[in-house]
Amino acid sequence: VKRLAIYGASGHGKVVADVALACGYSEIVFFDDRFPELSRNLIWPVLGDWDDLLAVKAEFDSFFVAVGDNSTRCIKLQALIDMSFPVTSLVHPSAILGSFATVSSGCVVMPGAILNASVAIGVGGIINTASVIEHDCRIGDFVHVGPNCAVGGGSVIGDYCWIGIGATISNNIELNKAVVVGAGAVVVKNIAANLTVVGCPASPIKKDY
Ligand SMILES: CC(C)(COP(=O)(O)OP(=O)(O)OC[C@H]1O[C@@H](n2cnc3c(N)ncnc32)[C@H](O)[C@@H]1OP(=O)(O)O)[C@@H](O)C(=O)NCCC(=O)NCCS
Repeated sequence: VKRLAIYGASGHGKVVADVALACGYSEIVFFDDRFPELSRNLIWPVLGDWDDLLAVKAEFDSFFVAVGDNSTRCIKLQALIDMSFPVTSLVHPSAILGSFATVSSGCVVMPGAILNASVAIGVGGIINTASVIEHDCRIGDFVHVGPNCAVGGGSVIGDYCWIGIGATISNNIELNKAVVVGAGAVVVKNIAANLTVVGCPASPIKKDY
C-alpha cells in the first residue's frame, strides 16, 4: 500500500488525487485549513489542518501540496522541504516526457500533457491537463501552466508565472517573474515581471493592484 497525504482539498486537490491513483497510490488522505468546516464532497477523507499534517510525517510514504495559488503553494511546499518531508512529484501515466525532460520536486503533470525534449520544470510546478511544453523550455519554480496551453520551443517562463487556460506562448519568449497570462491569450513578445497580459497579441491590462 502506497500512502499519500495531500495538503489542499479543493477542486485542484481532487484532480491531483486522481493523478496519484494512476501513479499507484492506493491510500490517499487530505489536510486542509478549512478542516473541520470543509463541506466539499471528496471521496477521500480530510483528516485535519496544516498543523495536523505536520504531526504525521512518519505515517505516509509521500506528501504533496495541491494548492493552485502559486505563492501559497510555494510557502507550504518550501516548509515541507525544509522539514525534510518526503515530498513527491506526480506525473500522470498518459503524460509524455521527451528525452531529457525533467520535473522537479512537488510538481504535478496532469493527464495528456506533453513535455518535449529537454524541457525543465522547476519546483512545485503545475502542468495542467493536455498542455504542450515544447522542446528546451525552462519553466521556473511555482509556475502554473493552465489546461490546454501551448508553450513554444526555447521559451523561458519565470518563477510564479500563471498561464491561463488555453493560452499560447510563442517560441523563444521570455516571461519574467510572476507574469499572469489571461485565458486564451497569445503571447508573441517578452513580458516584464508582475504584469497581467490578455488578448491576441497579448498586452498588459492596466490595474492598480
Ligand atoms: C487575466 C485574468 C487573471 C484577469 O483577471 P482580473 O484581474 O480579475 O481582471 P478583470 O476580470 O477585472 O478584467 C479586466 C479587464 O480585462 C479583460 N479580460 C480579463 N481576462 C481576459 C482574457 N483572458 N482575455 C481578454 N480580456 C480579458 C476584462 O474583460 C476586463 O476588460 P474591461 O476593463 O474592458 O471590462 C483573468 O481574467 C483570467 O484570464 N484568468 C485565467 C483563468 C483560468 O485560466 N482559469 C483556469 C485555471 S485551471
